[in-house]
Amino acid sequence: MYRKILTAALVAGLVLSPVGMSADANQSKPNNQSDHAFDNKVIKKISSERMYNTIALLSEQPRAAGTEGEYEAVQYIKSQFEEYGYETEVQSFPIYNWDSGTSSITLEEGSFEADTQSFYASLNASVTAPLEYVGFASPEEVSEDVEGKIALIERGKYSFYEKVQNVLAKGAVGVIMFNKEGESGNDFGILYQGQNIPAVAVEREAGLDLVNRLSSGEIKATVSVQDANFIPKTSYNVVAKKEPHPNKDNGQIISIGAHHDSVPGGPGANDDASGVAATLELARIMAKTPTDTELRFVTFGAEEKGLWGSYHYADSLSDEEIDNSVAHFQLDMVGSKDSGDLIMFTPDGEKNLVTDIGASAGARISEVVDYGQLGRSDHVPFFEKGIPAALFIHAPLEPWYHSPEDTLDKISKEKLQNVTEIVGASVYQIARPDTPALENANVAPSPADYDFDYRPL
Ligand code: BES
Ligand code: ZN
Repeated sequence: MYRKILTAALVAGLVLSPVGMSADANQSKPNNQSDHAFDNKVIKKISSERMYNTIALLSEQPRAAGTEGEYEAVQYIKSQFEEYGYETEVQSFPIYNWDSGTSSITLEEGSFEADTQSFYASLNASVTAPLEYVGFASPEEVSEDVEGKIALIERGKYSFYEKVQNVLAKGAVGVIMFNKEGESGNDFGILYQGQNIPAVAVEREAGLDLVNRLSSGEIKATVSVQDANFIPKTSYNVVAKKEPHPNKDNGQIISIGAHHDSVPGGPGANDDASGVAATLELARIMAKTPTDTELRFVTFGAEEKGLWGSYHYADSLSDEEIDNSVAHFQLDMVGSKDSGDLIMFTPDGEKNLVTDIGASAGARISEVVDYGQLGRSDHVPFFEKGIPAALFIHAPLEPWYHSPEDTLDKISKEKLQNVTEIVGASVYQIARPDTPALENANVAPSPADYDFDYRPL
């Protein structure tokens, strides 16, 4: 219900603010796009230096979900929220890490040496059968010939799910997948529920060697996966709440989130220590600022495993909390020197309250922010609950994405400052006690014209 009121007020603001005013009168109002007065109360306090120091601390070690690194990050984040005066809850939830066990490929004839890595969720089994090369394993490439054979597949073009489904449908008994052009290593590959087959990944050279050998005759191979299994672990969300001013409480909730986990082995300075640093900084500056709206600052665990933390958090919300949630701002990869411009992504590629307000704050602070369509982060579970949500991120991505090179020296203080100011100003536009009377031209900033952008990643 609250969401509807706010949306109506915003729309009224958009429509009403110019009414009865000449263009000149409108220009002299505080809603002039270049005037920071509206936002100064919050944005002046934002310190990129502090955020940089937080990233330095968090990126000292990887923070993969379920590891000691994550746990230490969680304790640090909790202590910071508490230092700022927030009531802070650590939500724990179960996750499963994959122990890939041991795996091998042996040929009946001739010697063959390759490092193998079992797919995530591979079946533990040993199968001996002829190899059948099926290219990228599209339905057109996979014929009946693969029945009873081990499918040799090139990575790329289609999802792991589709490729494996296509060969399973034609009766394959094992999978060997080799890496795509330009990529090294064999650390990839995932099976989905119901895909019960031993599957291993190898480097591109090893796969091309097999393709080559196949061109001069049949090869019988054994693919073996042993002792691979799921290890139960625990991951965490950290949730800090700020109650609204008791006399001004409008019942609404805004959340601001980032994920504190990194990929295994990556320091995740930009992905997503940067978002955590921005979330903590916004929590710090909002701690003593009276609002009419409840604010929730949340850092999620296990995002990199498939948004586990944010799904857990969203599922923990009551119907009333969901109904009262007016906006979710997700900060992910907000500080790389080597990425492109800021963009707001929504899972359906539609504008919403968050993108409207974010675009306008951008226009006042630096430049208007465009929007595009993308999931792939913790805004998705909020969107799926019907809460207006957007991902604030820079795109195209930096080359260090998900690599051990995602380190502190790649962080830009200017980018951190700009995104945090835009999100801080947006949050405050909704949460300040003189809104949601957004139709009042004295406090309602001008809406911005902003466009859909097919931004490459
Ligand atoms: N920070 C990324 C999200 C991202 C990646 C946005 C690339 C835009 C482009 C996030 O941490 C991530 O890597 N997410 C996973 C998705 C998840 C469902 C496992 C991804 O995209 O692989
Ligand atoms: Zn991320």
